[in-house]
Amino acid sequence: MSLLEGRVAAVTGGARGIGFAIAEAFVREGARVVVGDLNPGDAHRKLGADRVRAVPCDVTRAADVEALLATARAEFGPVDVMVNNAGITRDATMRTMTEDDFDQVIAVHLKGTWHGTRLAAAIMREQGHGSIVNISSLSGKVGMAGQTNYSAAKAGIVGLTKAAAKEVARFGVRVNAIRPGLIRTPMTTAMPEKVWDRKMAEIPMARAGEVEEVAKVALFLASDLSSYMTGTTLEVTGGRFM
Ligand code: NAI
Repeated sequence: MSLLEGRVAAVTGGARGIGFAIAEAFVREGARVVVGDLNPGDAHRKLGADRVRAVPCDVTRAADVEALLATARAEFGPVDVMVNNAGITRDATMRTMTEDDFDQVIAVHLKGTWHGTRLAAAIMREQGHGSIVNISSLSGKVGMAGQTNYSAAKAGIVGLTKAAAKEVARFGVRVNAIRPGLIRTPMTTAMPEKVWDRKMAEIPMARAGEVEEVAKVALFLASDLSSYMTGTTLEVTGGRFM
């Protein structure tokens, strides 16, 4: 059984890390996927040019997200699945964080997810079905020192997800979120070894997660396996901060 046979998906921040793994999992399950990323890279070559397009997209700009969805429609058809995954970190304590660090993180995560959610939902409600998956973070649940910007944005994504889910449920559109813990990606392996080791000590499963382990949960939420779920946030954390 292919879980996304005939479906069209858009994945923001899909050039690498968790977003790329999600695009890969979706293609394996029969979807055609458009990846939107600041640096779109070569996802289409790695995953198959017949099933994947990679386009430049800055999620902070509504026009770019509209163009991403328009590419999906022109190449494959209207989107059935939208994954709002693009993200950045600008960590610093409040004493040193600049206003620009705060604004940028809020713009990419919170406004970017808002653009992706409302623009995809507008297409999906016309079709009478669709699934939107927003990538939050454990940081938005517990708050992490040095991440007042990121924790605020990621907590905001959970509120946005619930509000949007209530607005579009009656049109057959579901909106859910994922809260990953420590996942091994270019974003996290860049952190100092001491910080990495401190985080590892907090994880009952005593290891970092792999991108494929987040992708499998995104696949679950994107597919009909989760047909009676909306407004939820699933944790992929190895038990950390349960
Ligand atoms: P990553 O840094 O490996 O990949 C992020 C991708 O987003 C990059 O390809 C980047 O070019 C793209 N991007 C950044 N700004 C963008 C913008 N304005 N418009 C479009 N694309 C943009 O990061 P990773 O680790 O794969 O993270 C993916 C998502 O998962 C992020 O939202 C992150 O906050 C979240 N997350 C990651 C965790 C981890 O441990 N890696 C834990 C919890 C959440």
